[in-house]
Amino acid sequence: MTDRKRIVVGVAGGIAAYKACTVVRQLTEAGHEVKVVPTESALKFVGAATFEALSGQPVHTGVFESVHEVPHVRIGQQADLVVVAPATADLLARAVAGRADDLLTGTLLTARCPVLFAPAMHTEMWFHPATVDNVAMLRSRGAVVLEPASGRLTGADTGPGRLPEAEEITTLAGLLLERPDALPYDLSGVKALVTAGGTREPLDPVRFIGNRSSGKQGYAVARVMAQRGAEVTLVAGNTSGLIDPAGVNVVHIGSATQLKEAVTKLASEANVLVMAAAVADFRPAQVATAKIKKGASEPSSIELIRNDDVLADAVRARAEGQLPNMRAIVGFAAETGDENGDVLFHARAKLKRKGCEMLVVNAVGEGKAFEVDHNDGWMLGADGTETALEHGSKTLMASRIVDAIGALLNG
Ligand code: CTP
Repeated sequence: MTDRKRIVVGVAGGIAAYKACTVVRQLTEAGHEVKVVPTESALKFVGAATFEALSGQPVHTGVFESVHEVPHVRIGQQADLVVVAPATADLLARAVAGRADDLLTGTLLTARCPVLFAPAMHTEMWFHPATVDNVAMLRSRGAVVLEPASGRLTGADTGPGRLPEAEEITTLAGLLLERPDALPYDLSGVKALVTAGGTREPLDPVRFIGNRSSGKQGYAVARVMAQRGAEVTLVAGNTSGLIDPAGVNVVHIGSATQLKEAVTKLASEANVLVMAAAVADFRPAQVATAKIKKGASEPSSIELIRNDDVLADAVRARAEGQLPNMRAIVGFAAETGDENGDVLFHARAKLKRKGCEMLVVNAVGEGKAFEVDHNDGWMLGADGTETALEHGSKTLMASRIVDAIGALLNG
């Protein structure tokens, strides 16, 4: 079980309040003590009994209940993290103004721990100058205000303003518990192109040659970059059902050839390319248009041909002046040691061969790196720097990797 922390989940009055139930459930299941503080209007969407049952704690909205415990001060003071999900336009405005007319706003004024707002509202409200200013103000004061997801809103309309999925909110909440300063809003104006997941090289309409990459690390990098203000496009291969990160433009591809096409098209705009995808080095020379039948004969061998090296091609294109906006190219490598040398020996050679600014290295084998949620590794810089990535969640590792990318972009 994780370290037990005190988390306040504030719930404002929007239809997405029902999703707060899943947020509360996931945080309590992770072993935390969760106190739900809804607004009066939130209780028009979800009853207090639901939040009390899920959190195992009484639920109040006003400052005149259990007055002897001074809850409007104590709840905020004692919290390790405050998560407001959903944060409506009205709640953000009241937080900016420093109002304290209910238990949630009182709690926000007294909390000295990290505060994470997960906004949910209609697109017009999200883009209204009042909300834009309020979000900027909260971020300048050190609060984390998540980018909302895009998609279907209440009714038939679509656009940015959806509450990010509960799992995404609790993942980022977990990151702030591990590392309170992990999500500064310091990458606005940066255009990032991130690839993630494994490619699938088709043999026929049914079969493919694939690999074990889950896409988790690349998704975490895209998610953290977007929440730190970058404009992120994620080229995603096969990823065993990961949630598209909120605020990220996701382009789904299948094969290495499709990944190459997508990166070639998108790289000219990008300031940074992060190649976390596990790109197949080879593909079948022939792809059958109909399913291959086993027939009566012995199985034939599969002839393979080489795929382009997308990372090395991007480095070359930049050197030839074709990517004038590109300021940093980052590769990933999963390595094992062998009779020629250890993981770092092979990684140093790969960094030289690829010619990028940074290589993130994981040791693989024995259940490490693939498909798991926790990992460790190193970041090797072309300038000779070698930084160990401490063991932790892939989201925590992503936050360290994004720190290093930020340093590359600044220097
Ligand atoms: N990569 C790429 N295109 C390929 C293969 C790999 O862009 N066809 C990128 C990966 O996304 C990763 C980096 O290159 O960022 C290293 O991948 P890896 O498979 O370790 O590199 P290879 O050059 O294929 O080395 P190896 O001979 O060890 O397989």
